[in-house]
Formats: sequence, C-alpha cells, structure tokens
Amino acid sequence: MRFTIVTLFPEFFDSPLEAGLLGKAIMRDLLSVVRVQLRDFTCDRHRTVDDTPFGGGPGMVMMVEPLVTALESLREERPDTHTVLLTPRGRRFSQAVALEWVESGDITLICGRYEGIDERLVQGGFVDEEVSLGDFVLNGGEVAALAMIEACSRLLPGAMGNEESVPNDSFYQGILDHPHYTRPREFRGMEAPPVLLGGNHAEIDRWRRQQALKLTRQLRPDLLEGMELSPADRKLLES
Ligand code: ADE
Repeated sequence: MRFTIVTLFPEFFDSPLEAGLLGKAIMRDLLSVVRVQLRDFTCDRHRTVDDTPFGGGPGMVMMVEPLVTALESLREERPDTHTVLLTPRGRRFSQAVALEWVESGDITLICGRYEGIDERLVQGGFVDEEVSLGDFVLNGGEVAALAMIEACSRLLPGAMGNEESVPNDSFYQGILDHPHYTRPREFRGMEAPPVLLGGNHAEIDRWRRQQALKLTRQLRPDLLEGMELSPADRKLLES
C-alpha cells in the first residue's frame, strides 16, 4: 500500500514512521509513505502557501494554487490515487474507512494548516473526499494522517507479526475487543477468570465472544444498534 502526504511539515513524520510495527511494515515494503513538501509547488521567492482571508478575520488561509499544482503533479504520476483532504468537517474516519483505503491501495492525504483552506480546492473537485479524525480541532492534518496510516498498516497482510490479533481488534467485527488477562492469577484480591486458565479453547472462545458483546453493550451500545446479531450472539448476550 502507498500513502502520499502533502504537508508543510514532512519532518513531523520522521520518528513515528521509523518506530515499532509501522517502521517494520515500511522496512519490509508492505507500506510506503512518501512525504511531499507543499512549498515545493509555490512559484514565488518566499515560497508562500497562505494569505489573509478575504472578508477579514483572524488567521491565515491556505492558498488553492500551490495545493492544486501539487495534486495535479502527483496525479500525473499516479492517476488512480484516492485524494483525501484532512479536515474536521469531513466524514468520520473509522475501521471501515481504513479497510476501504487498504483495498484501494493508493491514498494521497492533504494536511491542512492555519485557519482553513481556500474552499475552491473542494469546489473545484480537486479532492475525492474530506475525512476527519473526530469531532475536535487539531492544529493541522498531520496527527490525523499518522493515526489513519497506522490504522491502515495494521490491516496489511504480514504487517502485524501476529496475524490472529487483527480480527479480534476492537471494531474489526463491529464490536469491541474482549478483555485480556495475564500473570499474576490474582492481583489485590482480583482473580483472573478461571475459564481462561482451564485450557478448553472452545469454552474460552465462547467466553471471549460473550464478554466482547457485553462490553460493547455496556460501553458502546451505539455499535450494536446498527448490527444484525446472529442467534448464537443473541443467546450469549442474554445468558
Ligand atoms: N485537521 C484539523 N482538525 C482535524 C481533524 N479533526 N481531523 C482531520 N484533520 C484535521
């Protein structure tokens, strides 16, 4: 899979893209992340990317021209890339969006900065969609881009070391992950559930599925609302 990030701060990504499983996925060529400096697509001596807003008001607005020049140049190289503007007003990112992107295989992320971006970037059809990390405002799209890239990287075959762990992840099957326990067996009067120590794997699977369903009902009932539960799951929830 390939990501291209259009940003004013390519160096922001240096250490996160080297560390941990994300770094390994890149080293092993399962994932490539290309950073593009937006200022490289300006035409003036000062490499200007922003200007004061028409109509007045605080802050600066990112200019449409360098962005469109960058995107058109990238599209020439990769005509099929899916171009995403990162913005708090966009479609909310989720595990489902991550899966879509992994299937598409080639994503360009535009990181906004300053107070906003000239609306003509969207109006002119230069982006395929607008996506948000959540209902809060960041200083720019870089933190959002990193979170989204990491979420996608977990879904790439071979990227996780332990492939079994991904299908159990929270949200993978639309519900939360089951609770986990490890040594010691007893901590400050709290026992690990005996079923996990009994060695009966069918029973353990059943218990984990039940706990995942119950936890989801307790913590995120909204996730269950849109779901068609199997008769077996319904029975687990009721028992
Ligand atoms: N840029 C600023 N805030 C953002 C958010 N919530 N999601 C994506 N990009 C952003």
